[in-house]
Amino acid sequence: MGKVVVVTSGKGGVGKTTSSAALGAALARGGERVAVVDFDVGLRNLDLVMGAERRVVYDLVNVIQGEAKLSQALIRDKRLETLHLLPASQTRDKDNLTPEGVEAVIGALKESFDWVICDSPAGIERGATLAMRHADVAIVVTNPEVSSVRDSDRIIGLLDSKTVKAENGERMEKHLLLTRYSPSRAERGDMLKVDDVLEILSIPLLGIIPESMDVLRASNLGAPVTLADEHSAPALAYFDAVKRLRGENLPVTIPGEKRSFFGKFFGRKAA
Ligand SMILES: Nc1ncnc2c1ncn2[C@@H]1O[C@H](COP(=O)(O)OP(=O)(O)OP(=O)(O)O)[C@@H](O)[C@H]1O
Ligand SMILES: [Mg+2]
Repeated sequence: MGKVVVVTSGKGGVGKTTSSAALGAALARGGERVAVVDFDVGLRNLDLVMGAERRVVYDLVNVIQGEAKLSQALIRDKRLETLHLLPASQTRDKDNLTPEGVEAVIGALKESFDWVICDSPAGIERGATLAMRHADVAIVVTNPEVSSVRDSDRIIGLLDSKTVKAENGERMEKHLLLTRYSPSRAERGDMLKVDDVLEILSIPLLGIIPESMDVLRASNLGAPVTLADEHSAPALAYFDAVKRLRGENLPVTIPGEKRSFFGKFFGRKAA
């Protein structure tokens, strides 16, 4: 049985889709079978970041409504045969996602993939709660700024109450992925400090992804940054995050600083 991971945030534009693609590709490079699912119905973004937009024929809504089989909608990545994408519909609206339909699709994906990565839409409404509903693990993507941290805190509340795990009285494994971290802005004091974000959210740190032009370049090439430029700073940070996701206890370094955080230390505070 595969592991279901939701990549969520509350606030929009913080790097969920970028991170879903980068983490998915990094896991698939290691030989594991990965399906990345785009829950952002109405927007359809993940296929662009993964360079699969011209191959989309059927999508998540088609599968849920019985218009296509899961195997017809899944798109195999051009570069990695263990990486698959289940795209979102651009033309339908998010009310076409039904709880029963989502449950069936996630259940089927878990049977054939090692990792099912659900790229959540922004917000705390239906789309976001459906994306997190069946997760075993949550990655809370946050930028080091007040509004993003505040929205992540709300999402943590939902993860602990609105998911199947929460309903069964189980604890959701949650990780913080701090993205778009800029050493120069940190130096000027324009961003929240890493310690402050950790203090507020109190979940273990999965990684810190630097703000980098390499992310935009990769996106323009239609490739996850971990495939487009595997030696770039953001790719290396995503590879390390994947190691931690697999359970390795690797210190987290802050881009531009020598200081590092130990996962174990923050693991103690794990919610
Ligand atoms: N580490 C980074 N460095 C520079 N730019 C980044 C980084 N991460 C993401 N971005 C850029 O930020 C923008 C938003 O990223 P992305 O689409 O991944 O966010 P999102 O959380 O999925 O947004 P939405 O809430 O709209 O779904 C994109 O233009 C992306 O290229
Ligand atoms: Mg997105």
